[in-house]
Amino acid sequence: MSRVATLYRSTVGKKVLMAVSGAVLFGFVFVHMVGNLKMLFPPDAAGHYAMDVYAEYLRDFGYPLVPHAGVLWIARFVLLVAVGIHIVSAVQLARLSRAARPRGYAKEKSLSLSYASRTMRWGGVILLLFIVYHILHFTTGQAHSSFVAGAVHRNYVVAFQSPIVYGVYFVAQLALCFHLYHGVWSFFQTLGLSHPKYNHLRRPFAVGFALVVFVGFLTPPTLVLVGVVS
Ligand code: HEM
Repeated sequence: MSRVATLYRSTVGKKVLMAVSGAVLFGFVFVHMVGNLKMLFPPDAAGHYAMDVYAEYLRDFGYPLVPHAGVLWIARFVLLVAVGIHIVSAVQLARLSRAARPRGYAKEKSLSLSYASRTMRWGGVILLLFIVYHILHFTTGQAHSSFVAGAVHRNYVVAFQSPIVYGVYFVAQLALCFHLYHGVWSFFQTLGLSHPKYNHLRRPFAVGFALVVFVGFLTPPTLVLVGVVS
């Protein structure tokens, strides 16, 4: 067996795949959160909303070197592959850890599943369901009460005027916050990025990052809900 195949089959190899795919997804989530802050800008003199200009820019990015929305489709493909790797590695690691646990004491078995790993599993499932809903909501429009293709600012405002939609996003962002907190922390652990001088900073760093993403994502929807952004 080649070295790469041996590494892939090992727990360490799967953890590294999980960490690297997680970092790609985390990078996307962070950039997406910053991009969504465009909702807070007023329209320009010609009445164009910053969010719509930004969405148009993302679709046109790379044109004419690549066809319209070409880079967007590449990004979608990379994200899909990263999500796939992340989920497959998570399932395989869960199986490996179950197989490695001693048999016999049912109670001990469930206790040995740490609070963090249980939260990660349920959080991951919630996030997956959220992503499916989210794409049907803001990208394809089937889950939106009055979707208009390309009118991102308008679709966003209409959506978050509903407390129910706001509630769904709030719960999903809470799940994301916990997932990011534990994910960022384990990322350092898995890749062996440790130094006795800085190890005590890992947890506050993970908490800080998760909170920045949580507050950043929920600020524009909250301001829509209370009528400040319209
Ligand atoms: C409060 C939280 C969020 C809001 C308000 C939000 C809003 C939006 C909006 C308005 C779009 C459409 C942009 C466009 O058409 O140009 C979008 C696209 C997208 N969002 Fe979010 N988002 C949120 C959180 C997330 C999270 C946490 C994830 C992933 C974990 C995510 C994944 C995506 C993806 C993958 C797309 C692109 C779909 C595509 O065009 O292929 N979003 N989001």
